[in-house]
Amino acid sequence: MAKTRSSLEAAGLKQRTANISERVKKIVVSPIKEMRILAEKVPGAISFGQGMPYVDTPLAIKEKLVTALKTKDISKYSTSPGLPELRKALAERVMKKRGLQGVKPEEILVTVGAMEGLGAAVMTVINPGDEVIVVTPGFSSHIEQILLAGGVPKFVPLIEKIGWQLDVNAFKKAITKKTKAIILCNPNNPTGSVYSKKDLQEIEQLVLKHNIILILDEPYDFLLYDNATHYSPASNPALKNNLIACFSFSKEFAMTGYRIGYVYADSGIINQMMKVHDAFCICAARISQEAALAALEISDEFTKDLVKKLDYNRKLVMKWLDKMPDIRFQRVHIISFQNTK
Ligand SMILES: Cc1ncc(COP(=O)(O)O)c(C=O)c1O
Repeated sequence: MAKTRSSLEAAGLKQRTANISERVKKIVVSPIKEMRILAEKVPGAISFGQGMPYVDTPLAIKEKLVTALKTKDISKYSTSPGLPELRKALAERVMKKRGLQGVKPEEILVTVGAMEGLGAAVMTVINPGDEVIVVTPGFSSHIEQILLAGGVPKFVPLIEKIGWQLDVNAFKKAITKKTKAIILCNPNNPTGSVYSKKDLQEIEQLVLKHNIILILDEPYDFLLYDNATHYSPASNPALKNNLIACFSFSKEFAMTGYRIGYVYADSGIINQMMKVHDAFCICAARISQEAALAALEISDEFTKDLVKKLDYNRKLVMKWLDKMPDIRFQRVHIISFQNTK
């Protein structure tokens, strides 16, 4: 069999090639999703493939959703960019989260998770042959989305010995005339590292200097351990014309199955992205948009508690790993080589 990047293909999943586009033949189901599909076939296997809060969606969200189902006609499409009341609430959320002023509903696109936002962003800005800088280790779907758009992923390694932080000099070296965008996920999946404000601000300067697009993937911005603080380039108004920020309800509200997220960008970019969004999904599921509205109304106690629970589990696993002499692992957020085993 020809060498394949696909574990599913290697495991014997039928792959037709006749009449399949070169574009699609070039990509794979991202490895973390492949792992889950493969794990499903093994009784008792625990998949670490996908990041899913183990708790259920808060009851308060579900109850509001039931009321919406009973009292509103939510059987119809919303307009493509999303329910006006949700776009308005999300514009307010972006202002609150990122300390911005004057964010307008027109600068929000409601998407089918952050994933569709990222895909629409890449399809909107990348021409075939354009280079897109991604970090490694990174989130594998970014690579597939770049390839699908005909782009070329350029890999910049994170610095492992300082807690998988950004190597700004390596970014400087990786930028060429063909560079169109940088994709950054912060906190990073899979390393969990929270990038320093100083490094991110240097990346911002590179983005402005070369007039490229910074695509931010920030579904884990709430998931901070050990008093780590999160800085987002989305909070810098100077970057507005060079920024597409993708957010998610999946992790923060334990709503992975609802498939709902949103994008914040300049309205000129949002209106271009809307073409891709319309071509692929018309609009995010109306029922999930209602759930998102409900999520924005609950207190932040749920998320605080979720972080506590995940931190408890994380510490437990670190304790177990510490007892295993042959295992070396990185304690995320603690930026010191001495803290690695
Ligand atoms: C880094 C990263 N980006 C995006 C996504 C997709 O998020 P969503 O469920 O909102 O599409 C995930 C999901 O695991 C993720 O880990």
